[in-house]
Amino acid sequence: MARRSIRGYVNRPIERDKILQLLDIARFAPHGGNRQVLRWLVINDPAKVSKIAALTIDWMKHTKDTNPGLYEEAKMEVFIKNWEAGSDQISRGAPCIIQAWANKDERTAPPAAAIAIAHIQLAATTLGLGTSWTEGIGYASRAYPPLLKVLGMPEGQIPYATFLIGYPTEFYHRIPTRKAVDVTWV
Ligand SMILES: Cc1cc2nc3c(=O)[nH]c(=O)nc-3n(C[C@H](O)[C@H](O)[C@H](O)COP(=O)(O)O)c2cc1C
Repeated sequence: MARRSIRGYVNRPIERDKILQLLDIARFAPHGGNRQVLRWLVINDPAKVSKIAALTIDWMKHTKDTNPGLYEEAKMEVFIKNWEAGSDQISRGAPCIIQAWANKDERTAPPAAAIAIAHIQLAATTLGLGTSWTEGIGYASRAYPPLLKVLGMPEGQIPYATFLIGYPTEFYHRIPTRKAVDVTWV
């Protein structure tokens, strides 16, 4: 209940041993067939993170022509406008991006990546770190060749999940309200 998506970060890299501690925890997450196919890409450099955010904005601009439905549904115009007004709502000032990668045809990868990141998000909270999924960067990483090139992973591998991580500048003091549990007993 204390874990929240963090959208404001201190602008300094995270200690490598903390990142390794979190990735080590992820090794113990469940994985279909125990295949353990995930590999991790860690960008722990605020300048590189900014470049990735800028390329994500480029991809959004490009999407206006290539996929207008997605452009509208994901409200990309708002992200672009805010970026141009000096507000980065893509990387949110995080110093580090972590991606879970695997072979593009690996059927167990989508749930494995999501579960691994859920483990990391809970553990990060206990280390004083904040995290947030960022499907904005994640989607762009799969769809936009110039960004894929900067990430530099081998041919045939794709990022299945992407999250921001860093020391938070914002703290939540209350548990969020949520919809009631929707359950059917059979
Ligand atoms: C698959 C996935 C993708 C997400 N993508 C984004 C994103 O691109 N940008 C963002 O600010 N938050 C993103 N989030 C965070 C959600 O908005 C957030 O989890 C939700 O609003 C609930 O808030 P909480 O995590 O603080 O409890 C994503 C979450 C998930 C699970």
